[in-house]
Amino acid sequence: MLQSLAVIALGLLPSIHAITLTLPNQLINNPVKAESEVRAGDFDGSKLWPGANETSYDWWYFDAVSATTNESVTVVFYNTGPDGFPFGYNGGGPFSVGISGSFANGSLFSLTAPVTGDVVIKTDESGISGEWSGSGFSFYGTSLDGPNPTYVLKVDAPAIGSYGTVTLRSRAPPHVSCGLGHSGSGEELFPNVFWANAQPDADAVVDLRIQGTPVQFADGIGYHDKNWGDAPFVSVTSSWYWGHARLGPYSVVWFDAIDKAGREYFSGYVSQNGELLQGSCTKNAVVVRPWGKNSEYPPKAKTGIMEGLDIKFDLGKGKEMLVNVTTGLVLIETDNYVRTEGTAKATIKGSGGKGAYEGRTLFEEFKFN
Ligand SMILES: *[C@@H]1O[C@H](CO)[C@@H](O)[C@H](O)[C@H]1NC(C)=O
Ligand SMILES: *[C@@H]1O[C@H](CO)[C@@H](O)[C@H](O)[C@H]1NC(C)=O
Ligand SMILES: *[C@@H]1O[C@H](CO)[C@@H](O)[C@H](O)[C@H]1NC(C)=O
Ligand SMILES: *[C@@H]1O[C@H](CO)[C@@H](O)[C@H](O)[C@H]1NC(C)=O
Repeated sequence: MLQSLAVIALGLLPSIHAITLTLPNQLINNPVKAESEVRAGDFDGSKLWPGANETSYDWWYFDAVSATTNESVTVVFYNTGPDGFPFGYNGGGPFSVGISGSFANGSLFSLTAPVTGDVVIKTDESGISGEWSGSGFSFYGTSLDGPNPTYVLKVDAPAIGSYGTVTLRSRAPPHVSCGLGHSGSGEELFPNVFWANAQPDADAVVDLRIQGTPVQFADGIGYHDKNWGDAPFVSVTSSWYWGHARLGPYSVVWFDAIDKAGREYFSGYVSQNGELLQGSCTKNAVVVRPWGKNSEYPPKAKTGIMEGLDIKFDLGKGKEMLVNVTTGLVLIETDNYVRTEGTAKATIKGSGGKGAYEGRTLFEEFKFN
C-alpha cells in the first residue's frame, strides 16, 4: 500500500510545482521576506512572502515601443505598500495596475485601474498567469524554459476605458543582474532591491483602444521584467539609469545605479540573435553617462531631461559595445523620474571595427538627490 502510494506520488512529480497563489487585497502587518535567489520554475512569480507590507513592494513591468511611430505602452502590475514603492501605491490595498504611453500623434496617456479583489498568480510547467481581480488586467506567459516564451496581456477595463491585448514574443534569454537566471542565481541588484528580467527583448504586437483612441502596432520592441524590495525604494536608491534597446541582431539591457550609500552598481546584458554575449554585474560591466544638455552626473531632482546617454558595455577580451542613445518623445517627467523613448546607435570596438547598428530604445532614470 505504502509502496504504491509512493509510485503514484512519483508519477505526479512534475505537477508538484504547480502553485496557485491567492494574495488578499490587504497589507501584511509584519516583517516580510524578499526572495533573493531564482527558484526553479518560478522565475516570474510572486517574490514577497507572505505578501507586501507597508515598506515593501513587488511589481511586474511590461513595455512596448513601435519601431517607426510615436506609439508606446507600459503596463505595471503592482503589489506595494505606501512606503514600499509610493509611485505605484493607489490607496486602499496594495494592488493596482498602471497603463501609460503615447499615441501616434505624440500625446500621452496615463491611467490607473483600481483592483477590487484578490491577486491570483498561477505557475506550473506550462508557464504563469496573473490576474489582478476587478481591474480588468491579467497576463499569461508560456514557460521561460521553452523557445520564444510569449506573454499576452489582456485588458478589459471599462473603469478607465481601456481594452485590447499586448503580445510579447521573446527573442533573447531571461537573466538576472549577474547573468542567466539559473536555479539559485542571485537576484539582488543592490541591497534591498531585486530584479528578474524574463523578457530582455521581445517582438511586440499591440492592439489597444485607450479612451477611444487606438494604440496599434505590430513592429514593437517589447520588454518584461519584475522588481521587488524589502525596504522603501526611495530610502535605498539615490539614482539609476535603466533601459533596453534593439540594435540589428543585438538586444541590450543596461542598469547603472547609485545607492544611498553612494556605491555604484552595474548590470549589463547583450545578446546576439538570441545567444548571450554578456550578462555581468562586475564593476564597469556597463557604464551609463548622460551627454549634451542636462548631463549633470549623478543626476539631481532638478536636473532636466538628458539629451542622450553614452553607454559602454564591456564584452570582455578587449571588446566593447558603445551605444549612443538620443532622447526622443518623453513619456513621463517628474522631479524624481523620467521615462522616454529614443533612438540608439551601436558600434562594436575590438571586432575589426565593422558594424554600426541603429535601433529603438525605451529607458528611464530615477533621481532622489
Ligand atoms: C515589513 O518588512 C520589512 C522587511 O522584513 C521589515 O523590515 C519591516 O519592519 C516590516 N514592517 C512591519 C510593519 O512589520
Ligand atoms: C510624434 O510626436 C511628436 C512630439 O509630440 C510630434 O511633434 C509629431 O508630430 C508626432 N508624429 C506624428 C507622425 O504625428
Ligand atoms: C492626439 O490624439 C489624442 C487622442 O486621440 C487627442 O486627445 C489629442 O487631441 C490629439 N492631439 C493633437 C495635437 O491632435
Ligand atoms: C552621440 O550622438 C550625438 C548626436 O548624434 C553626437 O553629438 C555625439 O557626439 C555622440 N557621442 C559619441 C560618444 O559618439
